[in-house]
Amino acid sequence: MLSVLDALNGQLLAAMERAFPEASARARESGSSPDPQLAPASKPEFGDFQANGALPLAKPLGQPPRQIAAAIVEQLAADPAFSALCLEPQIAGPGFINLTLRPERLTAEVAARLGDPRLGVSTASEEAGGQAPAPVVVDFSSPNIAKEMHVGHLRSTIIGDCLARVLEFRGHPVLRLNHVGDWGTQFGMLITHLKQVAPEALDTADAVDLGDLVAFYRQAKARFDDDETFQTTAREEVVKLQAGDPLSLKAWGLLCDQSRREFQKIYDRLDIRLSERGESFYNPFLQAVVDDLTAAGLLVVDAGAGCVFLEGVSGKDGQPLPLIVQKSDGGFNYATTDLAAIRYRFAPKPEGDGAGRVIYVTDAGQASHFAGVFQVARRAGWIPEGASVEHVPFGLVQGEDGKKLKTRAGDTVRLKDLLDEAVERAEADLRRRLAEEERQEDDTFIEHVATTVGLAAVKYADLATNRITNYQFSFDRMLALTGNTAPYLLYAVVRIAGIARRGGDLEGAGESVAGSAAVAGGAAPCGDLSFSEPQEWALIRELLKLDGVIAEVETELLPNRLCSYLFELSQVFNRFYDQVPVLKADEPARSSRLALCRLTADTLKLGLGLLGIPTLERM
Ligand code: ARG
Repeated sequence: MLSVLDALNGQLLAAMERAFPEASARARESGSSPDPQLAPASKPEFGDFQANGALPLAKPLGQPPRQIAAAIVEQLAADPAFSALCLEPQIAGPGFINLTLRPERLTAEVAARLGDPRLGVSTASEEAGGQAPAPVVVDFSSPNIAKEMHVGHLRSTIIGDCLARVLEFRGHPVLRLNHVGDWGTQFGMLITHLKQVAPEALDTADAVDLGDLVAFYRQAKARFDDDETFQTTAREEVVKLQAGDPLSLKAWGLLCDQSRREFQKIYDRLDIRLSERGESFYNPFLQAVVDDLTAAGLLVVDAGAGCVFLEGVSGKDGQPLPLIVQKSDGGFNYATTDLAAIRYRFAPKPEGDGAGRVIYVTDAGQASHFAGVFQVARRAGWIPEGASVEHVPFGLVQGEDGKKLKTRAGDTVRLKDLLDEAVERAEADLRRRLAEEERQEDDTFIEHVATTVGLAAVKYADLATNRITNYQFSFDRMLALTGNTAPYLLYAVVRIAGIARRGGDLEGAGESVAGSAAVAGGAAPCGDLSFSEPQEWALIRELLKLDGVIAEVETELLPNRLCSYLFELSQVFNRFYDQVPVLKADEPARSSRLALCRLTADTLKLGLGLLGIPTLERM
C-alpha cells in the first residue's frame, strides 16, 4: 500500500500548506517543508494511518495542536482526491489525525493485486521514473579455499541469497559476488607441505579431495606454527605465487578447483547462484591502492609497515589504531584486498562495477575490519556521493547448549552432514505423519517433500531470527509443524492453495474478477468482490502490507521482517478461515473469500520465494 501512503502524504502536505500558508512559506525559505508525519496506525481501532504532523507546529504557530489538526482536517475534507481515498478523519489525543481507508478502496487494491504477478510491489526503476538503478553488489558466502566451508559461511550464504533475491525482485541489477579466500598465506603453507607429502596434488587434477585438502592444510598450519624453516619456505612460496610463477599458479589453480567443486555442491543443493570473484582477482589492483593512499597523503609508514591511522578508533593505549595496508615484508593482506575490492566495485564502468550500493554479509566478528576499510575508502574518495556501503553482520551459530556448534564427537559440523541430517529428519517426520494419516505415497513424493522441507527448515530458521543475535541451531525446533517455522508456512500454503482449488467450480468466476479488475485498474468498481466481515478486512489489510514489508527489507536488510510478516499473515488467515465460512458461503461472498484465499497463497509463495524457499503442492 505504499502508493496509497504516497498519495496520502501528498494530500496531507497540500492540506497543511493551504491551512497555514505563511508558516509553510517560512519553512520552504529555510529549505524544509511541513512534515505530515504519516505512519501506519499503531492499533487497528485508530484506522489505517496516523498523521502526527500537527504537534510540532503548535510552538511555531502558537496554537493548540488539536486546533491545528482541525484546520488540516478541514482542508483535507475539501480535497476530492482525499475523500475518494479515506473516510472522515478523526482527531485523537493531543492532535493526532487518524485516517481510515474507504472499504471500496481496499477492495480495489485487492482486485488490482489479484491480476498482478508482482502483487502490488513496484520496481526501483518505476520509482526512479524509468531510470535504470545502479548495480548493487552483494558480497556473500565467501568461504576460503582449502578450508572447509563452515556454518558461518552457511549463514552468510542463506542471508546473502535472500537479500539478493529481494533486491532483484525490486528490480535492482544485483552482482552476487563470492569473495572466496583464494590468495592468502594458506597457499604458501599448503604448497610447501604438499610438495613434500603429496606432490601429485600439485600437478594432477582430482588427486586429492577436499577432505584431504583440509587435513593437509591443518598439518601445514601446525608445521608453520612451530617450524621456522618451514615458515620461511612457506612465505617464499606465497611470494612466488603472487608474483605469478607458472608452477605455483598451476598448483594453486588445481587446489582452487578442488575446493570450488565442493562448494558448488552446497550451492546447487540450496539453489544459490553466485559469481566467484575471489581475492586473487584484485591482485593486479593492490599496488594502485597503496599509490592512491600515498597520493592522498593517508599512508604512513610505521615500523616498516604501510598504515592508515583510523579516525575515531583508538586502541587500549589511547593511540589511534592503524589499518595495515602493506606489511613490512612488502606483502599485502586481507584489508588491502578489501580496499582494492571496494575501489573496483564503486569505480565507474568499464574500469569497475559502477555500483551504487555494496553490501557485505559476514559474521559480526568482522565489524571493525569493515568499519576500518569503509573509513579508509571514504577518505580516499573511492565511494561516490549518494552511494552506500554496508556491513550486514550476523551472530554466531550455537548448539542447543549455547556453545559453538559441534558434532557429538566434538568436531566442527560439516555442512553436507548438517543438510543431510535435516533432510533425513524431515523424511522421518513425514513417514510418521503419513502412517498416522494412513496415507500411501510413493518414494519420489517422499523424497521431494523431505528434501524441500529439510532444506527450507535450515534456511528459514536462519532467516527468521534477527540476524544480529547469536542463533541456536536446533533440528527439532526448525522442523516443528507449529510456530514460526518453514514446515508451518509450507503447510499453510498447501492448505490455503487447496481451499482456493476446492472452490474449483467457481475458479472461472474468480479469474474473471481478477481479469476485469486488472483491465479496469485500481480505481474502478471491482467486479464481484464484496467484503463485509471484520475478519475479511483484517486479512485484506494484512495482505496489503506486502510491498511495505519488502521495501523495509530492502533498506534495513533484515530478512526476519519478511518471515514475521509471512507468519503473521498465516495466522490472520487462520482466524479468518476459522470464523468465516468460505466454501459454504453464498455468492458474492463465496468467490470474494476464495479470492482472498488465492491472494493469501500467492503472497505466501512470493514471500517464501524471496527467502529462497520453494513451495509444495502437497505435503
Ligand atoms: N573469506 C572471508 C571469511 O571466510 C569472508 C570474506 C567476506 N568478504 C569480504 N569482502 N571480505 O571470513
